[in-house]
This record gives sequence, C-alpha cells and structure tokens, in this order.
Amino acid sequence: MNEVLFRVNGLSKTFGGLQAVRNVGFEVREGQIKALIGPNGAGKTTIFNLLTGVLAADSGSAEFEGRELIGLPTHRIAALGIGRTFQTSLLFDQMTVLENVMVGHHLRGRATMLTAALRILGAGREENEYRRTAMETLDRAGLADLAGRSAAELPIGQRRMVEVARALAAEPRLLMMDEPAAGLNMRETEQMAETIQQIRDSGVTVLIVEHDMSLVMSISDEILVLDQGQRLAEGPPSEIRNDRRVLSAYLGEEADGC
Ligand SMILES: Nc1ncnc2c1ncn2[C@@H]1O[C@H](COP(=O)(O)OP(=O)(O)OP(=O)(O)O)[C@@H](O)[C@H]1O
Ligand SMILES: [Mg+2]
Repeated sequence: MNEVLFRVNGLSKTFGGLQAVRNVGFEVREGQIKALIGPNGAGKTTIFNLLTGVLAADSGSAEFEGRELIGLPTHRIAALGIGRTFQTSLLFDQMTVLENVMVGHHLRGRATMLTAALRILGAGREENEYRRTAMETLDRAGLADLAGRSAAELPIGQRRMVEVARALAAEPRLLMMDEPAAGLNMRETEQMAETIQQIRDSGVTVLIVEHDMSLVMSISDEILVLDQGQRLAEGPPSEIRNDRRVLSAYLGEEADGC
C-alpha cells in the first residue's frame, strides 16, 4: 500500500453553539482518490476550510508530508502543495480564462489569490512567463480555445473545468475538490469523472467532496462518511454502498425499517 501523504487527527470546529466538526480523523494515501461524503450540513466544506487555513480549527492536527498545516495561512498551505476547488465556483469574472489560470501559477510563489489577481491585472512584462505556462496548462486540459474568453461568459460546466485547471496550475501534490460536479449535467459529470482520474494518474492525490453517488462510487478508492460533524463509516465503495448506517444517515428515519 502507498504511503500516507496526509494525516488528519482530532479535528474539531464549533460555530456558536453548533459543533460542525467533531473530532474527525482520517488518512489519505499517496495516489488515492479519497471521497468525503455525507448529508447537507455534515461538515464537509468546513473540514476543507480548516485544512486549507480558511477557518481556524478549535483543535486537531493535519500533517501533510510530515508538516503541520493547522495554524498556517492559506497561501503557505497552497505553496506546500495543496490545491483546492470550491463548492461555489470562484473564478475572477472580470478576468479572462487565461488570466484566471495564471492566478494558479502565482500560488506556488506564496501569493494569495487576490494579490495574484491584482498583479496580473496590473501586468508588466514579467507576466509573459506566466502567460506561456498558463497557456500550456489550458492546452493540456483541452481548454486552449477558451483562453481569451471572459470567465463571466462561461457556462457552469466550463467554469468548473477552468477552476480545476487553475488549481492544477499551482502544481499541487494533493488536490481537494469540493463538489466538482455540482450543477453539471450527466455528460459533463462523466467528463469530470474522467478528468479526476487523469489527475490522479498524473501523480496528484485527490480528496473529493461530492453528492453525486455514481461519480463517488465509480472513482473513489476509499470513502469517509460524515454525519453531523462526526465520522460515521469509512471503507471502499463496495462496503460503504451496503452500510445500513450510511443509508439511514442519508434517508433518515425511513431507512430504519428497511
Ligand atoms: N462560517 C460559518 N458560520 C456558522 N455556521 C457555519 C459556518 N460554516 C458552516 N456552518 C454550519 O456548519 C455546518 C456544516 O456546514 P458545512 O458547510 O461544512 O456542511 P457540508 O457538509 O459542506 O454541507 P453541504 O453538503 O450542504 O455543502 C452547517 O450546519 C452549517 O450551517
Ligand atoms: Mg459543502
């Protein structure tokens, strides 16, 4: 079995009186596609926010290649090799597709998304190098035709793909994807599944949050199920599919009598 790339322990987060994440721990092995699933409000996005420094954890640790991430600012975490896509697509609408992908390249150098965007908009000659590599990134993703388009013009399927390209532009070793198939039709979802597998095959480990169960079941090596901020079950798709606790968490009381 491959080595553990990412090890999370005892992660907790409370918002006011609500304990959104309760003592969650898991491991992600190098080269895996690992899924984090659970009903709405289970705490999935909060976990991503804690692991990427967007939110401060109440307690817990997250070791990435032996380095502690909890307590580091987002740009340091990104520069260590953790990429991310967002549940609600977050592209800079006033920039072109190419410029959005250039933001990703800047993240390797510890820039924040915003400082990178400002630098690109005030572009000087030093941006040429970024422009060239961003074009290559788009080309590899099959999105070269979109380079000059404004991000605001793109339909959701293309926005999601550009967001993935921007995250890959930072050359992460671990890519965290929050509902990459949200809003996509069936054909686009299948394409996204293929893209995620290609990303894994290219040597990037993937941690994915997703509600589309056929996508999750078809591409994941391992699934962690959360319910109300807690770990409910963990295992390969074949086990999770038949777990009564998981069914009942998704279906509520109805499933209890099944
Ligand atoms: N910044 C915040 N302030 C207060 N409460 C929050 C905040 N972020 C999340 N919550 C609450 O924490 C709980 C977990 O939310 P989270 O967004 O992590 O769920 P999720 O599993 O990603 O759900 P979904 O599948 O709907 O995206 C929810 O009850 C949510 O309302
Ligand atoms: Mg969420």
